[in-house]
Amino acid sequence: MCGIVAYIGEKEAFPIVLKGLKRLEYRGYDSAGIAVNNGEELNVYKKQGKVVELENFAKDKDTSGGTAIGHTRWATHGKPNDENAHPHTSDNEKYAIVHNGIIENYAVLKEELIQRGHVFKSETDTEVLIHLISDIIEKQQCDLFEATRQALNEVIGAYAIVVISKDNPNEIIAAKKSSPLVIGIGKDDFYIGSDATPIVEYTKNVVYLEDGEIARLSLDSGLTLKTIQNETKTPYIQELEMKIEALEKGGYNHFMQKEIFEQPRSIRDCMRGRLMLNENYISLGGIEAYQDKIFAAKRLIIIACGTSWHAGIVGEYLLEELSRIPVEVEYASEFRYRNPIIDEDDVVIAISQSGETADTLAAIELAKSKGATIIGICNVVNSTIARATDCGAYTHAGPEIGVASTKAFTGQVTVLTLISLLFGKNNGEIDPARFSRLMIEMNAIPEKVEEVLKSDSYIKEIAEIYKDSHNALFLGRGINFPVALEGALKLKEISYIHAEGYPAAEMKHGPIALIDEEMPVFVIATQDASYEKVVSNIQEVKARKGKVIAIVTKGDKDVRKIADHVIEIPRTDDMLVPLLATIPLQLLSYHVSVMRGCNVDQPRNLAKSVTVE
Ligand code: M6R
Repeated sequence: MCGIVAYIGEKEAFPIVLKGLKRLEYRGYDSAGIAVNNGEELNVYKKQGKVVELENFAKDKDTSGGTAIGHTRWATHGKPNDENAHPHTSDNEKYAIVHNGIIENYAVLKEELIQRGHVFKSETDTEVLIHLISDIIEKQQCDLFEATRQALNEVIGAYAIVVISKDNPNEIIAAKKSSPLVIGIGKDDFYIGSDATPIVEYTKNVVYLEDGEIARLSLDSGLTLKTIQNETKTPYIQELEMKIEALEKGGYNHFMQKEIFEQPRSIRDCMRGRLMLNENYISLGGIEAYQDKIFAAKRLIIIACGTSWHAGIVGEYLLEELSRIPVEVEYASEFRYRNPIIDEDDVVIAISQSGETADTLAAIELAKSKGATIIGICNVVNSTIARATDCGAYTHAGPEIGVASTKAFTGQVTVLTLISLLFGKNNGEIDPARFSRLMIEMNAIPEKVEEVLKSDSYIKEIAEIYKDSHNALFLGRGINFPVALEGALKLKEISYIHAEGYPAAEMKHGPIALIDEEMPVFVIATQDASYEKVVSNIQEVKARKGKVIAIVTKGDKDVRKIADHVIEIPRTDDMLVPLLATIPLQLLSYHVSVMRGCNVDQPRNLAKSVTVE
């Protein structure tokens, strides 16, 4: 949460930072600000609202200068307003800071600083840091780097920070712990971003800061790196693989729409070089190396949040069915605080699109501290979680900008399917004929997703009918139960319609009381092992005058007779239905959100990567 961008070099810094903030707006969008140093003045502009408000506000102001730091905020401490927006400055207005994370001991530090005469202008935890830094400089007459290093030794919590000084426009200080920060190394300049998206169009050479590292980016002496304990480190420069086109809407109205339609490609990319159809085998090198450990484990524990947690439940059905390995799925936020029984014989699969989710990361650290082996399934390459795991597989979905996760979910399910097939084959739990059939079916999934996407305009018509609903129910059984959960989450997060997902059979234990002629009930009713039972559940809804929108297998006749609307998806193996059944629900939420005039890509109160607990 919160996005940080900074630039130092020969170019005008303000437009570069502003553009970068627009790229990072998915991380938070309740206020934005930029501090720019033109060699004489340190001008700070900040505004409540989106980055565009800041842009309009700064239009007639002096934004000149080659050094700037910027921030787009998702409020934690202090409401979203101009005062609480970053950057924050010291009393003497000489130093400015942007921060992503939470300073947990800010109250104690603030009290001490107030007693020493510092005057606070905001309600944020961040402001203590800049007062502390300026306090240290004043007392010790040290430079900004040293003062920041010392200040960070007094801080408890998570941070990615960038600090500048009015007196030295030739350097920027950056540091990180538990929140991400990437440094881009240009020809004669440096870029900083919470991720690589603001950097990629200027340079491909990047350094990912590690926890506890502090960097000096100097136009005179280049990049130097230390730990906050003052040990010198050698920067490890990596090459970015990201393409700039992946960050544009490419003709679509919204990123979410683009990302839904990208799924045939993203699923194919996820399987490329892994699903070896002709050779009839699956290649997941990193994970396979840990296979003995996995087979010896009592169980697999999947930890994740939100949509990734839904993918984890699909994974539970897949892994238990295809490889007969017992699986438990936990919310990372619960796992980390409930003193779980876990030891070196356990294997944990952590799933995260962003690879930055604070709860998932903390759950990983906990499991690691008990000796467990950690497998990561991440989308963002080189993200903190990707680096914190023992091994893993990327989803290769490409940047997902819309806050509502779509292609990352199908990517996660694809990886989990490949893992299940790999384990099932290697531990002899899946018979060769079924394995081969599933390989063929998997290979055909991208084409079948394309076919589902052709129903877009029909799904839009259904969205028009139900767009004014106040509530909605999503039902599914077996492996389609998590699809129902995901359908409900998509609808509520981007259209603000209250929605709940349930296993279809659970309906009669409570939710059935909600059903009346106003209530749309979305049911995944494909022709699988629980088809007849789901058909009975649909009858129960209809008997209470509920409206049924059913996702059915192509050619289905029975459900068509009783449902109000049916959306057909191509036939596939029961275990692969989630990869298809999810798509109409994504499209439906998308259209409802657009029709209700909601902000599809940046729904209220949310942020793409939840780096606070
Ligand atoms: O980046 P992660 O996959 O770890 O994020 C987990 C959740 O925050 C995320 O899936 C969230 O629920 C999305 N808004 C869902 O669309």
